[in-house]
Amino acid sequence: MAIVEVKNLCVRFAAKGQVKTAVSNASFAINEGETFSLIGASGCGKSTILRVLAGLQREWQGGVNLLGSAIKPGVRFQGDLRRNVQMVFQDPYASLHPNHTLYRTLAEPLNIHRETQIATRVEEALVQVGLPTDAAKRYPHQLSGGQRQRVAIARALLLRPKILLLDEPTSALDMSVQAEILNLLNRLKQQFGMTYLLVSHDADVIAHMSDRAAYMSGGSIQHEYDRAALIRGEHRMVAA
Ligand SMILES: Nc1ncnc2c1ncn2[C@@H]1O[C@H](COP(=O)(O)OP(=O)(O)O)[C@@H](O)[C@H]1O
Ligand SMILES: [Mg+2]
Repeated sequence: MAIVEVKNLCVRFAAKGQVKTAVSNASFAINEGETFSLIGASGCGKSTILRVLAGLQREWQGGVNLLGSAIKPGVRFQGDLRRNVQMVFQDPYASLHPNHTLYRTLAEPLNIHRETQIATRVEEALVQVGLPTDAAKRYPHQLSGGQRQRVAIARALLLRPKILLLDEPTSALDMSVQAEILNLLNRLKQQFGMTYLLVSHDADVIAHMSDRAAYMSGGSIQHEYDRAALIRGEHRMVAA
């Protein structure tokens, strides 16, 4: 069953008196449990698609189905939908509040959703991503880049989402740290039965992580690769 369905998605921005088409008639579907990836040059519309699916970009046209329900443009995500779709960004430094301890950062989504046993849940979240529980009292600047991305992943997982949107989650990290984070993501996906939509410009990352991938250019999906094509490395022709 498709857990994400995107049909003829269009996103336009008004910039300097001109209309810029960021996403143009993009269509794809992701089955439950898959890792589906978007590849393509900078500016081709990958992040914009993820932002639509996260409910962050609310102006769009076309059809979007998440977890079996149609979502509408202009509508703020609430309740189960908000809980079930989470996003991890490229730069963990920018996505973590510099003056908040990790405890505060991780407790916040739990408080917003009126969860209980916050302290225990925060400890569990840290352990799940391979951080010591006493890291809770630290600040982002006291962590390495890889540790910060682990915190961003822990925060995304606190509400047990079904869909994780990963926008270049390891591009800002050193090679060895990249591999650790990718393996962590694969382990967590198995553990919690999630579905991933991944953006990466790295052909090795795509081949390592994805069941299928789509190549985008000029806001449209140009080609899809299945697992066999990814193993053969056919996506390497287009991955920047
Ligand atoms: N908020 C915005 N306002 C105006 N233009 C935008 C906005 N967000 C993205 N764009 C433009 O839309 C296009 C696609 O951007 P994006 O989805 O970020 O590409 P990618 O993630 O593939 O690099 C780019 O030309 C970008 O400049
Ligand atoms: Mg992007």
